[in-house]
Amino acid sequence: MLEGIFGTADVTPFWVADMDLRVAEPIIDELQRLTSRGKFAYEFHSQGVFKAISDWNLRRHGLKLNTSNFVQVTGVLTGIALLIRELTEVNDSILIQTPAYHQFSKVISTANRKVVKSPLRVVDDSYEMDFQDLESKLKDPNVKVLILCNPHNPVGRVWRPDELITVLELANRYNVTIISDEIHSDIIYQGYKFTSLMTVGADKHVSLIGSPSKTFGLQSISNGYLYTENTELLEKMKAISESLYLDHGSAFSTFATIAAYEKGESWLGAFMEYMQGTVDWLQNFTDKELTNVKMFPVEGTYQAWLDFSGVGLPGDELIKLFGRAGFGASPGTWFDSDAKQYARISFACPRADIQEAFKRLDLELKAIT
Ligand SMILES: Cc1ncc(COP(=O)(O)O)c(C=O)c1O
Repeated sequence: MLEGIFGTADVTPFWVADMDLRVAEPIIDELQRLTSRGKFAYEFHSQGVFKAISDWNLRRHGLKLNTSNFVQVTGVLTGIALLIRELTEVNDSILIQTPAYHQFSKVISTANRKVVKSPLRVVDDSYEMDFQDLESKLKDPNVKVLILCNPHNPVGRVWRPDELITVLELANRYNVTIISDEIHSDIIYQGYKFTSLMTVGADKHVSLIGSPSKTFGLQSISNGYLYTENTELLEKMKAISESLYLDHGSAFSTFATIAAYEKGESWLGAFMEYMQGTVDWLQNFTDKELTNVKMFPVEGTYQAWLDFSGVGLPGDELIKLFGRAGFGASPGTWFDSDAKQYARISFACPRADIQEAFKRLDLELKAIT
C-alpha cells in the first residue's frame, strides 16, 4: 500500500491520528492491575465512566454534563454511524465541512446516504466557515444532518462561540440535526479555548464529547460516549446501544478510561507542553526553511494541514517527493478531492522523528528548486 502511495515503503508514518508516546502511568497501572488478577469475568461500570467524563469536562472546560445523558458506543465513528441511521433515511443527505476527516465520507456513503460538502474558506491565512455556502446547502430539505468537527481535523481550527452559535442558528432554522464530533476537545494550544456545542444551547443536537482516545493515546482500547439533551433522541440511542449490547464494553476500556480522566491530568499537562513545543518548532521551521510551503495555524488537534501549492508540483509528483524524503504524510486528497497540493501530518510522536522528517523534506524541496 505504501509503495502505491509514496513509491517506497521506507517512510516514517505521520498519517494516522494516534499517539506514538508512552501513555499516563495511572492508565498503565490500572491495566496491569486488571491483567495481574488473571481473571476476566463480566465487569461493567458505565456509571463510573460517565461520572469521570462529566467531572473532567466540568474541571477542564466548565461544561456541565448530566451523567444520565450519555450513551456508550464502541467508538466515535460507531456513534456517528448509529446516529445517522437513526436520524436519516437511505438517500438523505449529510453535510460535512471540507477538507474533512476522511472517515466522515465513508461513514455516510456506506450507510447509503449522500455526502454534501460545504467547503471551508481561507481568510487571512486561516480557515473559516463559509456561512453563505453553508446556508445554501442546509436549505436543501434533503440535508438532514450536519457533522461538525470541533476541533477540526484536518485544518486544526477550534471553533469560536460566535461561529458555533451561527451554525446552530442555521441548523435550527432548517431543521438539521448537528452531530458534533468533539473527540479532539482536550488537545488545545496556547491562546485558544475549546467550546462544546453543548454550551451554546444545543438541546436538539448531539455531541461525541466523551472519548479518551485522542487525549490519552488510547486509540486501540477506548470506547466513545455520545451525549445529548434531546430526550427523545437520548432514549432512542440508549435503546439501540442496549439492544446491540454496545454498553457492555470491555473492562480494559472502562477502567483505563476512568483512570485516565481521574488521574491523568498532570500527564496531559506535560503532554500538551511537549506538543506545544512541537507545534512551535514545526511552524518556525516551515516559515523559515520551507518557504514554498504554508502550515496553517494549529489551534487544536495533533494534526497539521500543509499547503504545498507554492512548490509547483502536480499532486502525484509531490507525493513521490514525500516518498524520497521518507515523509509519510496523508495526501490532501484523502480529505478533499481537490486538495491535490495539500497534506496532513499527525505529530503526536517523539519530536526528533518529525524534526528529522521535516529536515529531509527540506532537502528534497531544495533539490528541485
Ligand atoms: C475527528 C475524528 N473523529 C473520530 C475519529 C475516530 O474515532 P474512533 O476511533 O473512536 O472511532 C478520529 C480519529 O482520527 C477523528 O479524528
